[in-house]
Amino acid sequence: MAELKGAEKQRYVADLFSRISGRYDLMNDLMTLGMHRRWKRQAAALAAQGLKGSAIDISTGTGDLALELARRPEVDHTVGLDLLEGMVSRAKSRSAARGMSGSVTMMVGDALSLPFANGSFACATAGFSLRNMPDVGKALSEMVRVVRPGGRVVILELSPMKPGLRSSLFRPVFHGLVPLIGRLVAGDGTAYSYLPKSVDYFLEANRLAEMLSELGLANVEFRRLGFGTVAMHRGVKLGLLA
Ligand SMILES: C[S@@+](CC[C@H](N)C(=O)[O-])C[C@H]1O[C@@H](n2cnc3c(N)ncnc32)[C@H](O)[C@@H]1O
Repeated sequence: MAELKGAEKQRYVADLFSRISGRYDLMNDLMTLGMHRRWKRQAAALAAQGLKGSAIDISTGTGDLALELARRPEVDHTVGLDLLEGMVSRAKSRSAARGMSGSVTMMVGDALSLPFANGSFACATAGFSLRNMPDVGKALSEMVRVVRPGGRVVILELSPMKPGLRSSLFRPVFHGLVPLIGRLVAGDGTAYSYLPKSVDYFLEANRLAEMLSELGLANVEFRRLGFGTVAMHRGVKLGLLA
């Protein structure tokens, strides 16, 4: 199923995340031993540092990265957008529980067709979601479009590993332990078999960096996190400052 494309992939992914939304946060904590929280904090800092204005987190899920952006002193308002009502309602409850509803708008929307004018945001982020998109190029170009000149795009995503010692250590964890925990904790081993496979089908970090440059971003850089399992990319949108 990880090899699906287009509308078929979107339907599959929407069904999968609808099924697991209730256990999504717990599973992330278990699968990364809580490290995803630090990575999201780092991604928000990388996106917002030194800028002023509003921020968007596309495919925000339960809103972790949107909430991290909203905590940044540089950010005056944050939009967290996700395709699924089930995810958005959880993101809204979490932002309300933290007293942050005034500074964050959690909304249903499609990352492939963002309902915002060009240059609306100082920065845009995507966390662990691009590989689930039916059209990665379109999702990236939408992020670039809604960021203003001088603004930043930051991507946090799992990365396929080249064959070697590390991959021989991590593959059994991704492909064996993760589906097992998914079955025991989320009651859905199938969903958590798809997730590691989707990494195998995703772009290697160097290729993702090339794509960001091809979309017109400058100073594209990435660094690896989580023993090389995760990459965090950053690029700056060129153009005349408004
Ligand atoms: C693995 S989760 C990542 C959630 C969150 N960003 C995080 O880091 O925890 C992937 C999310 O992408 C969302 N998604 C998939 N396709 C989408 C689309 N076309 N537009 C917006 N969200 C989408 C799913 O609903 C799901 O919540």
